[in-house]
Amino acid sequence: MPTKVAIVGVTGYAGGELARLVLRHPEARLVAAVARSHQGEPLRAVQPHLHSAPESLAIGTEVGDAEVVFTALPPGEAAKQARAWLDDGRTVIDIGSDFRLRDPKLYERWYGYTHPAPDLLKQAVYGLTELTRDRVRTARLIANPGCYPTAALLALVPALKSGLITEDIIVDAKSGVSGAGHAVEDAYLFGTIDESVRPYGVPRHRHTPEIAQEAAALLGKAPRLTFTPHLVPMNRGLIASCYAPLRGGTRANDVAAAYAKEYSEEPFVRIVDAYPATKATLGSNWCLVHALVDEENARLVAFAALDNLVKGAAGSALQNFNARFGYPETTGLEALPLWP
Ligand SMILES: NC(=O)c1ccc[n+]([C@@H]2O[C@H](COP(=O)([O-])OP(=O)(O)OC[C@H]3O[C@@H](n4cnc5c(N)ncnc54)[C@H](OP(=O)(O)O)[C@@H]3O)[C@@H](O)[C@H]2O)c1
Repeated sequence: MPTKVAIVGVTGYAGGELARLVLRHPEARLVAAVARSHQGEPLRAVQPHLHSAPESLAIGTEVGDAEVVFTALPPGEAAKQARAWLDDGRTVIDIGSDFRLRDPKLYERWYGYTHPAPDLLKQAVYGLTELTRDRVRTARLIANPGCYPTAALLALVPALKSGLITEDIIVDAKSGVSGAGHAVEDAYLFGTIDESVRPYGVPRHRHTPEIAQEAAALLGKAPRLTFTPHLVPMNRGLIASCYAPLRGGTRANDVAAAYAKEYSEEPFVRIVDAYPATKATLGSNWCLVHALVDEENARLVAFAALDNLVKGAAGSALQNFNARFGYPETTGLEALPLWP
């Protein structure tokens, strides 16, 4: 019997990507496609790539008899609605940012709103599956990680866990424009972004406290983190280039051993020998990691590349769904990247 799921925010990029994956998932059935706009229209007419969505599956306002509610909404919106779904006995997996930070005060500081359900933050499990799958398995409320934090953390986790680096961390990252959602703004017009690269959000990007929170849990103290995201003229794809001083005596062999140990059994993290390219992850749940040692400067340089809408959003949400409901983690996520 497939698990019944609803997607709230199905008209957006992340919601549409999740619908694409859920429609091919053998153990999930999409029973409700929820949004504010396009009421009553078939999902497959609203999201033009969802050819196999049944004609009868129309955009509505209710989650129906879904056992799992995926939310892909702007900041603050999922937190207003999650309690009702949890009280009904459903599991909630939020692709947005509403349950990622454990300290409610951080929402005021970084997102500019007072968290509407601070008590729910205590029960939320941060769902970077590679790090927290044991807790995801029993969670009722799963906070899917942000796209930049997913790449930054997967690049750094082995070094953080093995104590190879100090707390002085720089994350320099680049994302394609779909990372900003389907909002129409001058900043995201083709004429604005084409043939151009620019940083943004420094030093106040909302993913900074999320990366810092998870790095602190592994380091045992707060990192000194500088995070610089850039918008690059491509559709999908995200790469994080991460830098941190190595602790005395750490050699390339130690780094290679830590990364191999951490990821040898992971179904979606592949350690590559060459610089990873975002394009080699396109449309897939893969994250490509490459870590090297700058010996002259005693610094770790670690890269992680992924598709922001798959491993950075919908794919990891489905990986968490699989872990939560006891399906093999790769179920519905087996597709290899597109190339070229
Ligand atoms: N894009 C990415 O790569 C990515 C990666 C990781 C996480 N995320 C997160 O996923 C969430 C959705 O991102 P997205 O890129 O899919 O954005 P998007 O394309 O703008 O979609 C947002 C969705 O939310 C609905 N919505 C908008 N305003 C709303 C409101 N005030 N109340 C209720 N619903 C509202 C929209 O549809 P209607 O207007 O039809 O209701 C739409 O379905 C965000 O929290 C984002 O940070 C995105």
